[in-house]
Formats: sequence, structure tokens, C-alpha cells
Amino acid sequence: MKIPKLTIGSITSDIPIIQGGMGVKVSLSLLSAAVAKEGGIGTIASVGLGDIEASKNEYERVSREALEQEIQKAKSLTDGHIAVNIMGVLSNADDLVRAAVRGGIKIIAFGAGLPLKLPALVEDNSVNLLPIISSGRAAELILRCWDRRFRRTADGLILEGPLAGGHLGFSFEQLSHPEKYSLNDLLPEILDVVKPYEDKYGSKIPVIVAGGIFDGNDIARMLSLGASGVQMATRFVCTDECDVAQEFKEEYLKARKEDIVIIKSPVGMPGRAIRNQFLKSLENQGKLKINCPYRCLRTCNVNEAKYCIALALVNACVGDVVNGLIFSGQNAYRINKIITVKELISELLAEIEASDLT
Ligand SMILES: Cc1cc2nc3c(=O)[nH]c(=O)nc-3n(C[C@H](O)[C@H](O)[C@H](O)COP(=O)(O)O)c2cc1C
Repeated sequence: MKIPKLTIGSITSDIPIIQGGMGVKVSLSLLSAAVAKEGGIGTIASVGLGDIEASKNEYERVSREALEQEIQKAKSLTDGHIAVNIMGVLSNADDLVRAAVRGGIKIIAFGAGLPLKLPALVEDNSVNLLPIISSGRAAELILRCWDRRFRRTADGLILEGPLAGGHLGFSFEQLSHPEKYSLNDLLPEILDVVKPYEDKYGSKIPVIVAGGIFDGNDIARMLSLGASGVQMATRFVCTDECDVAQEFKEEYLKARKEDIVIIKSPVGMPGRAIRNQFLKSLENQGKLKINCPYRCLRTCNVNEAKYCIALALVNACVGDVVNGLIFSGQNAYRINKIITVKELISELLAEIEASDLT
């Protein structure tokens, strides 16, 4: 298969690969810039930046300034395409959107919540908006709302299937039968949803698929089914440039298939993670002590939450895997080495080119 470019609104990347945003502090300036340098789109995850523990009641300012720094750092490393990922469940989501736009970011990927008012926050038309959805229903809701309220449509959609890492847009019941919600089945549904809006606005709405995409064959298969590109996260964890601590990457290398589990996150959504020492201790203890001065999540009920997810993710990213929650996609167990971003992307591109699919 010939490797297609990926056009999202006013942006065209040389290769159809987006590195998915990974919080907390897993995908920052180094990883995103390395991917952008190779012709892909690198994404900085905006969740939990800065020194959360030190920020106390200045959480919003500290978080915003840290995002601004990551954006500037990434831009100093590459002229390639850098996106920012923002999660709707964050109490400071609006502030982060504005900071990304001020920082000159041209792609905002918005997940974990419906971005119904996102266009109102982003008046600059040169900023491309990419909602992350997991169902035709969510896609339809967003596109209909943006059409009616803002007379605009999305610049693309990221369809995240049930094999993805981190928080998932599926119920526990749905996740017990992931085969019923495969990307193969969901993609045609989403392509049908976007069609009338493409016709109305006279522009293509690329659908980018995510969740369990592991190699170039997976990418070729998705492209041949009508996807315009793929978003991959798990595979980028085990690269030299990934911003997270070495111990985190080693948890991926050690993980067996049965270690990758679905958890109930304090965010209020299911998530996928590696059942490491932290999750095992939590199973035994039931609940850990929480001291929360930040209220970083709109949806977290501090009195009922079993642990502070922000703290658990910060612990993980600095390498304290005993006290840290390690998010991963379903295919993390298939990774057996840490390579450079250049090596990973070259491998993926060679596999796409070798595919017979068209
Ligand atoms: C460690 C990790 C952290 C993640 N954090 C975020 C996040 O902060 N925001 C988000 O929208 N998605 C997040 N995701 C989801 C990814 O961006 C991506 O869409 C998904 O994992 C793709 O599936 P794959 O990991 O199988 O390639 C995370 C995934 C992982 C593995």
C-alpha cells in the first residue's frame, strides 16, 4: 500500500499516524516532537502538568504554565505538527484549551467528555478541532450541536475503540465483549455519520481510528476500510524519547496478556491499566487515604474515590511503580523492546508499504 498523507483541516502530515496524548506526563514535548520530526502528528497530554503537589490552590495557574512550557519546548525541537490533548473531565479544561491556542497549537484533540462548547472557546479558525469519540451516537451529537450552535463542523474525528489505553468511552458491560465493538464494525458507522456534514460543509472530515493498532498491517487494514489515519499510544511508550520514567516502560515489557485489566477509575469511567503492585495493594486495602486540595477532576467524588488518581499517575510517571497506576492499551504485552521513535515509525511504514491492501 502507498502511504497516504493525513489532512486534518488546514494541516497535512506526511504520514497518517498520530501519537495519542498520554497523561500524566507520558507524552510531553520530547515524544511529541520526535513523532512530528518523523512526519507524524505528536500530541502533548495536558492533564496533570506542573508540580501538582506543590501547586495546592494554584493548580490552574501551575498547570497552564507547565503546558505553555511544554508547547514552547516542543516547538523549539521541531517545525512538525504538534497537537494538544485535553480531557473534558478536567476542572481546568477550558483554561488549557485557551492556553494551547495562545501557544500556537493548530490541533486540539478533545476526549473524555463531549466537547459541545469547544468551538466557542476557540475562535481562531486556523485551529483544527478533533473530538475523540467511541460511538456513532457521540459523533452525531457533537456534529449536530456544532452545526446548529456554531455553523461549523469538526476538522476530524478520532474514533477510539475498546482496546485503547487509559480512560475508555465504553461501559464495563461493553468492555466485557470488546469484539462486539471492534473498529471494523464502528468505523463504517462513523463514516455514515460524518457523510451529511461533509456534504453540507464541502470538506472532508477525516476519521482517525485508535485502540489496539499495533503494526503496519493494522494500519493498512484501517486505511483500506476508509480511515484517514490512525492514532497510536501504547507502542510509543516503549520508545527512547517517551517522556515517562524507564521503570514505567519496563512495566510494559514485563506485562503478560493476563496482567492487562479494566479498572474503575475515580474519573467515573472505566480505564485500562497493567495490574501491577499498586493495583494489587489496592485490591487488598480497598481504599487509600486521599488529601485533595486541587479538585483537578470535575467528576471525581473525593469522599467516595478509592484513591487519588492524579497522585497515582504522577507516581507512575516518575518511576514509582509500586505506588503508581500504569495505564496501557490491550496490546502492551506484545511489546518486547524499547526502540527509537525513528525506528518504530520506519518499521510501521515498511509494514504498510508491504501490505497488499489498497
Ligand atoms: C499511558 C496512557 C495514557 C493515556 N492518557 C490519555 C490522555 O491523557 N488523554 C486521552 O484522551 N487519551 C489518553 N490515552 C489514550 C491514547 O491517547 C490512545 O487514544 C489510545 O491508547 C490508543 O490505543 P493504543 O494505546 O492501543 O494505541 C492514554 C493511553 C495510554 C496508554
